Amino acid sequence: MARLEYMDVYFSVQAFQEEDLRGKSAVIIDVLRAASSMVTALNNGARKIIPVGAMEDAVRIAQTMDAKDYLLCGEQNGNTIEGFHLGNSPLEYTKEVVADKTLIINTTNGTKAIKKASLANKIYVGCFLNQQSILEGLKEHDDDVVLICSGWQGKMSLEDTLFAGSVIYEMCEGKLPENTKDGVKIAFSLYEKYKENLEQSIGTSDHAIRLKELVPDGDIPFVCQKNKFDVLPTMKDGILINFNG
Ligand code: MLT
Repeated sequence: MARLEYMDVYFSVQAFQEEDLRGKSAVIIDVLRAASSMVTALNNGARKIIPVGAMEDAVRIAQTMDAKDYLLCGEQNGNTIEGFHLGNSPLEYTKEVVADKTLIINTTNGTKAIKKASLANKIYVGCFLNQQSILEGLKEHDDDVVLICSGWQGKMSLEDTLFAGSVIYEMCEGKLPENTKDGVKIAFSLYEKYKENLEQSIGTSDHAIRLKELVPDGDIPFVCQKNKFDVLPTMKDGILINFNG
């Protein structure tokens, strides 16, 4: 089991350097909404996901594939990208749309966090929807694990920090040992404060307010559901597959 005293939490993509992850494993968190969309897509039969750090990379990779095999997905500053098949609402990633497809995804922060973590031993993608699968996956680790919150353009975000706190809370069964890192203490304490009102607090977070005009109302309640899917998105050679699939 990954040990809490060696765990850390980074609060945005800009809060770490690539080298910080050498020899460690990482869980990339983006509750609103990249991680929630990826987990939903893999649950609904997407074959694999190729996260990219820039729109041009998505288009370049798509050009090497048969048009019937892939979907271009993602968002830029919350908006759908012109010419892409799907945006970044998990509600769009239904079985009918994604089954057997390769998804090429570019998002403002989430996919950048995944790409930046490339030196890690193992990379998982996590959110409330697959919390239990993440906890099970971490049981297999004896290396140090970092929970990486994607945040928003260098700033921390409430929803990602709450999920990091929720993982930590479950790992220590609500009793945090003293000898943990600051990031772990901060995420745990925040989760303790808001755990009874997750949906309400996430609904008033900066990013929920930012998205209000842009996305369907259903996104917030959907991403706040815990343990909905037994999916463990795991990176191998730049591609995310469902380790539990
Ligand atoms: C991101 O990568 O920053 C998010 O997933 C943005 C979004 O809510 O679509």
